[in-house]
Amino acid sequence: MRRFLVAIDGPAGAGKSTVARKVADCLGITYVDTGAMYRAIAWKALNSGIDIMKEEEVAQLAESLDISLHPEGICINDHLLKNEIRTPEITSLASVVAKMPKVRRVLVNKQQQIAEHQSVVMDGRDIGTNVLPCADVKIFLTASIEERALRRYKEMKAKGMAVELEQLKAELQKRDENDCTREIAPLKQAEDAVLIDSTHHSVTEIVEKILHLCRNKLGDK
Ligand code: DC
Repeated sequence: MRRFLVAIDGPAGAGKSTVARKVADCLGITYVDTGAMYRAIAWKALNSGIDIMKEEEVAQLAESLDISLHPEGICINDHLLKNEIRTPEITSLASVVAKMPKVRRVLVNKQQQIAEHQSVVMDGRDIGTNVLPCADVKIFLTASIEERALRRYKEMKAKGMAVELEQLKAELQKRDENDCTREIAPLKQAEDAVLIDSTHHSVTEIVEKILHLCRNKLGDK
């Protein structure tokens, strides 16, 4: 198979990472979770005592880190990060660093390097519009705010975390607003992306739909 690039963008909680990971597994190619990269930078900044509001310092930190992919998460300087980057605190700090143009420049560069010599399924907010504008298949995956909040609620409950549905919904709305209105690389559907609403569909149905689009495209190549 020639290098094949799949971009999956959409708002928080639409199911991107679950779907993207399965599509990558089925195609036998690498899955890249770009949200985890923004989270990893926020985590490292917090744990290095760097002032998270200082763009220059956070960007320098991002530049200095060796970021690599691991089947169970993301590694920075060989340290595997898993649940520690999924806490509410890191979720909120990640959205702060994701607004910084200099930090984005560093991470977009690293994301493009990862996809330079291998096939990937990459998920995020700006993959189809900015990171991989030439992707073979672009998906914009969305779901209603109620459904997205409910999914997050169930996920967190299953992990034994104390959460409130209404509060989760408010947080998701705030993140949507942050992601959609920031000046640099805001969340928006690429013109050539296929819009998929997952509200009333199972993960399997969505994965099948994306695989179908990929196979059609691969048939063309
Ligand atoms: O998808 P996520 O919740 O793990 O993303 C964490 C944060 O990073 C979120 O605020 C959106 C931001 N993000 C981004 O701005 N661009 C990306 N390509 C991926 C994530």
